Amino acid sequence: MATEQVRITVFDTTLRDGEQSPGCSMNHQEKLRLAHQLDRLGVDVIEAGFPIASDGDYEAVKAVAAVIRRPIIAGLARACRPDIERAWEALQDAARPRIHVFLATSDIHLQYKLRINREQCLAQAREAVSLAKSLCADVEFSPEDATRTDPDFLCRVLEAVVEAGATTLNIPDTVGYTVPSEFGALIATIRRRVKGIENVTISAHCHNDLGMAVANTMAAIAAGARQVECTINGIGERAGNASLEEIVMAIRVRHDQYPYQTGIAGEQIFPASQMLSEITGVPVQPNKAVTGRNAFAHEAGIHQDGVLKNPLTYEIMTPQSVGVPDSKLVLGKHSGRHALAIRCEQLGYQFDRRALDDIYRRFVRLADKIKHVEDHHLLELIRDTHKPAASATPLFEPLPAAVAAAANASAQESPRPFPLAPQTNAFGVPLPVPGDQHHDQEDYLWGV
Ligand code: KIV
Ligand code: ZN
Repeated sequence: MATEQVRITVFDTTLRDGEQSPGCSMNHQEKLRLAHQLDRLGVDVIEAGFPIASDGDYEAVKAVAAVIRRPIIAGLARACRPDIERAWEALQDAARPRIHVFLATSDIHLQYKLRINREQCLAQAREAVSLAKSLCADVEFSPEDATRTDPDFLCRVLEAVVEAGATTLNIPDTVGYTVPSEFGALIATIRRRVKGIENVTISAHCHNDLGMAVANTMAAIAAGARQVECTINGIGERAGNASLEEIVMAIRVRHDQYPYQTGIAGEQIFPASQMLSEITGVPVQPNKAVTGRNAFAHEAGIHQDGVLKNPLTYEIMTPQSVGVPDSKLVLGKHSGRHALAIRCEQLGYQFDRRALDDIYRRFVRLADKIKHVEDHHLLELIRDTHKPAASATPLFEPLPAAVAAAANASAQESPRPFPLAPQTNAFGVPLPVPGDQHHDQEDYLWGV
């Protein structure tokens, strides 16, 4: 008889905590676009923003709540009436709303930031959660700076908010200070000591200041946490949050150690990563686990020889399993609409027939001028084709920027194809030599 797998809830906070990282702020339209991709990715909860923070963030949460129907949509609020009411207002149209209330509990924060004592903190947390609960059935509470909070006091606060109606207790390592053994033990203590804990979900929210956000999150899962808070590409305050793709793939690849499951569609990981860096303009670190451009590259001869004989020698997961396009499939002037549509999807864009036709016409003109249309050319072309209607630039004019980039590229050394060194694909198989007239396999694979 098949045993039922324990399900881990994936709470994505790219649009909230992620957006708080320098250079990563997103406008309303951008948040909405990414929210659609998070939906395709299969996250369980989207934290869409902090509605009291600005009118723009309020509108963005409202828009996401109105159109994204499957996942829970969460709005963040400090533990006070104006924040909670504003969050609830923004979530009005959500199919599955959640109010996420937070209040710092560590003595450092109470003394220097909030200037309240522990008893005042306890009362405020209880009142805030009661208010949120009177509006919304699904209430999450976060004791900010939990990992530097006295564990006895932390457990008292958690017990009070469970009594007041919280349904998820999120334990943030706000400053990225904890280590796996300590964080796992804290989750175990909470499970042992907080009355009513069996009726709520424990969640982990880890920051990466010491580079341990994912390791700490995994320790929390092993100790009984059943929700993980994370972001695409690990973006977030300071050194970032735990990276969604690393947690999900750790569970998938090391299932022997982590016998859990998530609802994440692996092949949507890379498109989500690409879309985020395209929207924010913040590139992914090349050696970033899972989504960096070197994550599946094999440069050394010994490694190339090994993967040629058997990919298992140096690959613990396939590029395809996380949606990394197979670099042997090159886009050129012989490529058809189908190939173009697939590559666009891999980069996080889906177009209807008409929009695809527009892009295709421009793509063919570009491909006539250069041999291979690289992902960055295509992204520029897509951006250019979909300039806002108010833009002074006509939609279907030639692509000055893309053509210039292409001319530049052919004048200089051609850019490295992602994700590999120029000569081989992920399995060390030689790529077509530029200028090679024999495109048989390419034509077959990319047929119109
Ligand atoms: O890091 C943190 O403490 C937070 C809370 C608002 C959950 O982001
Ligand atoms: Zn955070």
